[in-house]
Amino acid sequence: DRYAVIMAGGKGERFWPASRLARPKHLLPIVGEKPMLTQTVDRLVGLLPAENIIVITNSEQVDGVRDVCPMLPEANIVAEPVGRDTAAAVGLAMLLVKQRNPGASMAMLPADALINDAESYQAALDTAFKAAETSPSLVTLGVQPTEPATGYGYIQCGPVKDVIDGRDIFSVRQFKEKPDLETAKLYLQSGEYFWNAGMFVWSVDTISAALEEFTPTLMTGLKEIEAGMQGGQDLVGLLSELYPTLEKISVDFAIMEKATNVLTLAATFDWDDVGAWPAIERHYPADKSGNVNKGEARYLGASNNIVVSEKDHLVALIGVDDLIVVNTGDATLICPKDQAQKIKDMVRALGEEE
Ligand code: GDD
Ligand code: MG
Repeated sequence: DRYAVIMAGGKGERFWPASRLARPKHLLPIVGEKPMLTQTVDRLVGLLPAENIIVITNSEQVDGVRDVCPMLPEANIVAEPVGRDTAAAVGLAMLLVKQRNPGASMAMLPADALINDAESYQAALDTAFKAAETSPSLVTLGVQPTEPATGYGYIQCGPVKDVIDGRDIFSVRQFKEKPDLETAKLYLQSGEYFWNAGMFVWSVDTISAALEEFTPTLMTGLKEIEAGMQGGQDLVGLLSELYPTLEKISVDFAIMEKATNVLTLAATFDWDDVGAWPAIERHYPADKSGNVNKGEARYLGASNNIVVSEKDHLVALIGVDDLIVVNTGDATLICPKDQAQKIKDMVRALGEEE
């Protein structure tokens, strides 16, 4: 029995003003017409039945998640009362899947990766499931790196451990989460590293053992939650009492960097993390002056701009270059492209209002 658990509790501050606390990037159609989370669920159709797809979000976003995932059973959308980062989400996912079938295997998937080739994606996941079912390992998907990005985890490939469906399954020498730029450059040069796609496949047993070994404190909290679940307590009440006490750390730092039973296979599908507005340029065509827009825009003597505007709202740019202009129903952003990383500072400065 196989499950997919989608982690959908991130904030996506870099997509302000389209994104807000209750409307993070996975609830928005950043690229394409459907919200990224809807695309993530749709992409699994054919690989898994809807009953085996679970979304873990938080209480602020849960209504939004229900709206964009009408195809999922209500009980499969679970809200954390507060975000405790991805190791806790993995722990909760493990409990939810274990309750349904302790012998199952499960994929943990991000809500916000852009992947168009669903067929290759499903084939790669299917092989990853087989790898996780063949040996007690933590299976990752590795993306061929193209630049020394510091926002990703890096996976150093060791020798081929197995071949499944004609694909090499590599043992992993080292998993390094978000290295500094110098280190990332060395990794890239060595040719031995993949980027971590942020997708993990493992059995309930294997991830339980890893949580127990590497995050014993978190596991103690999880066991309390499990005891309550087994005692028939209401999940919402149980989580509101116990979830806030869980250790806050990402699965990458807590488990992946420490475990020695990590495997990886090449993510043989298109993959884009769509981290911030400049990503729009990779997915929409540019005019001959290099302007890219999602929504309606006109340009006069303007070049290399990115415009995102909501339906029926025309944005006109005259004589300006290299800007990001985002117009939503209640806010407008104008920002030089090379300062896109400051958008999250603005979100913080706006504080309470957002
Ligand atoms: N439920 C829940 N609760 N989901 C969460 C939480 C949380 O507290 N925090 C983050 N998420 C969700 C996000 O919405 C996203 O879908 C996924 O978990 C990954 O979290 P990010 O915060 O986006 O992680 P990251 O991008 O910094 O790093 C991860 O992804 C990279 C690839 O995009 C790591 O796994 C890296 O190693 C990886 O390269
Ligand atoms: Mg991310």
